[in-house]
Amino acid sequence: MKYAIITYGCQMNLHESEKIAGVLREHGYDERAELEDADIIVFNTCCIRENAENHAFGNIGALKKLKRQKRHLIIAVGGCMAQEEGKAALLKERFPFLDIIFGTHNLDELGELIERKRREKRAIISLREERRSTEDGIVPVRTSYPNAWVNITYGCNNFCSYCIVPYVRGRERSRHAEDIIAEVTSLVKEGYREITLLGQNVDSYHSEEGVRFPALLDACARIEGKFRLRFMTSHPKDFSEELVETIARHEKICNHIHLPVQSGNDRILALMNRRYTRAHYLECLAMLRARVPGCAVSTDLIVGFPTETEEEFCDTLSLVEEADFSTAFTFIYSPRKGTKAAAMQGQIPEAVQKERIMRLVEAVNANTRRLSAGYVGKDTEILCEDFDKKRGMYLGRNPEGRMGYFTSDRDRIGEFVTLHVTSANGISLYGEERGD
Ligand code: 5AD
Ligand code: SF4
Repeated sequence: MKYAIITYGCQMNLHESEKIAGVLREHGYDERAELEDADIIVFNTCCIRENAENHAFGNIGALKKLKRQKRHLIIAVGGCMAQEEGKAALLKERFPFLDIIFGTHNLDELGELIERKRREKRAIISLREERRSTEDGIVPVRTSYPNAWVNITYGCNNFCSYCIVPYVRGRERSRHAEDIIAEVTSLVKEGYREITLLGQNVDSYHSEEGVRFPALLDACARIEGKFRLRFMTSHPKDFSEELVETIARHEKICNHIHLPVQSGNDRILALMNRRYTRAHYLECLAMLRARVPGCAVSTDLIVGFPTETEEEFCDTLSLVEEADFSTAFTFIYSPRKGTKAAAMQGQIPEAVQKERIMRLVEAVNANTRRLSAGYVGKDTEILCEDFDKKRGMYLGRNPEGRMGYFTSDRDRIGEFVTLHVTSANGISLYGEERGD
């Protein structure tokens, strides 16, 4: 029997889908397939912004016909949107043909739910409030070679006023350091060349045994073998000198940090409950760049937060250059039911939000282009991760997260390649392999 998984959202979800695939393989679905050929289709959803939800709704609805043609097909919806208050009932009402709805704390029982569904006719909804354990014992079917994702924390305690994650992912739980180190060690032995440690806020990692994030990162970087280490996401309020020292100490840790700032204005930052100021953020970057020259910093930015004025937006705009972001993900504020910001007075009209995001994207792109152009004529090491059929070129990222493209007459995926950069376009670099 065959399976298909449709994933929305962040790296956390992409990795979770690898675990879902692991569960499906244990329950008789041994081959990945296109939707039309699948015997089970699982949607792993996201609810961080409204359009993520709309996408999922549209694509689930489109399966009605397939389900009618293929009676034995099981359709399951899981992930953040399923966990959101009231959403499971809404999903069931809108799409009566759904077979299973499971939340973010139910991954370990997904196999059981599938078995039950095969026996019973009725739809199964299973949502847990919280899960204390951080170990699910599931062996993921990894799909991102040469990169491998490794969870270090689950959930979030920060309650940024706009964000729904703490509600749908629950309280922050840290995995045992020794389990993480053992997982990374075996992945490196298996041949993975890049390990990305994942958490909503990796800097607040704190194991029961008292291990903090810098010590964990240090231990991972001491594992033998040729590989790179990345981690995401960091929070400026928990950013520490110790972390910077750890990055500086280890060749294996990429010179790149994803440090979402969200806004460049202190009043908006306070309203967002981010618990740092623009000045603190810039101090973090100064400390980082003093110890790790050339370290790339990428970020997330939100425009049109409730009550944001034109002047306050301009503070975000000016920060893009001042902070010299290598790249930035830009978002229009999207009210999420149940969060503090959704209930605030002074929601910003859509037309204003759109106009602001266009200006912001332009500023971000200008900076990205300028930084990319700086690579031309220089060498950079990329880890080849894929082949782009359209371009007919291999591609991979350098330590700072820039995508590099090159041609080769043999398969290079999984290899470290030194690229001599000959041109740049946006965030992409083009070059020739050194020594070719
Ligand atoms: N509206 C817009 N963007 C949001 N993010 C989180 N919640 C919202 C929201 N309600 C963005 C933040 C976060 C990223 C993952 O998504 O920038 O860092
Ligand atoms: Fe959401 Fe803030 Fe937690 Fe990130 S740190 S997941 S933005 S609440």
